[in-house]
Amino acid sequence: MEKLETVVQEALKLFARIDDAAQLEQAKARYLGKAGALTGLLKSLGKLPATERPSMGARINAAKERLEAALAAQREKIQSRRLETQLAQEALDVTLAGRGAGVGGLHPVTRTMQRIEALFHSIGFEVADGPEIETDYYNFTALNQPENHPARSMHDTFYVDDGKHLLRTHTSPIQIRYMETHRPPIKIIAPGRVYRVDSDATHSPMFHQIEGLWIDEHISLADLKGVVADFLRRFFERDDLKVRFRPSFFPFTEPSAEIDMSFGDGWLEIGGCGMVHPNVLKNVNIDSEKHQGFAFGLGPDRLTMLRYGVNDLRLFFENDLRFLKQFN
Ligand code: PHE
Repeated sequence: MEKLETVVQEALKLFARIDDAAQLEQAKARYLGKAGALTGLLKSLGKLPATERPSMGARINAAKERLEAALAAQREKIQSRRLETQLAQEALDVTLAGRGAGVGGLHPVTRTMQRIEALFHSIGFEVADGPEIETDYYNFTALNQPENHPARSMHDTFYVDDGKHLLRTHTSPIQIRYMETHRPPIKIIAPGRVYRVDSDATHSPMFHQIEGLWIDEHISLADLKGVVADFLRRFFERDDLKVRFRPSFFPFTEPSAEIDMSFGDGWLEIGGCGMVHPNVLKNVNIDSEKHQGFAFGLGPDRLTMLRYGVNDLRLFFENDLRFLKQFN
């Protein structure tokens, strides 16, 4: 029975090499199964002389137990190895650096608005507000622009519901709303979003305006020019900035002008202005014999483009973080 020890050694070697549970069970069958090598030896006991049978039987049983024990140990090894790999795969490395939430910043146009508000506040202007969905009356009629007035065609806009409500085309309706509820002296600026059917590198269907309004007893065109020119020089921090008023037309101001500022070798239009038309004052019950003043409308998007050297207005409204991050 030299064979017994050889078989046992062979089995132990094989079991130790296997690292898969199913394969291990197959290997077990090869030795301990019905047709297994050890089982075969047990069966052949009957051919031995009766005197040798007990001791041989005991040896074979001991061999069986060794193999069972080796199998159990190997099973455990496979099981714990599997657990280890699984744990390694699912491991959370708590020492890794965090991703961080990232710090937001103010939109460049918001920065400009805040800067404009601060500059006007320093010379006594209050901030007023109004709705973006306006009525035809506040956006046009009260501003001396009755139905069928040709100037309305320059303000094509987006109408909602019955055509009586629209997305405001300028911040001028805030003038009316404010004057309806306040008496002179009135000294306000009104920033906000406005809408027109317009879209190219320097026009966006949604853009911003800042309205200015100063009504008192002795406000003149000279005050208008002084306030606007002084504001622009402070905004751009340039004392040599030139400001030009170019005659123009708005139904709600008389006389009216476009505001141009020097830019490189030429001029750039950055807003409109004028002395508030007597009809507008009449519409809000202010006596134009006693009170008068000026209004202006500036484009803060354009001011932002100029201040930061941005050449396409649409960049401001595309929400591309690669662009917006540069301002923080
Ligand atoms: N509301 C005018 C526009 O949007 C600008 C403006 C405002 C002109 C105030 C004069 C006075 O075109």
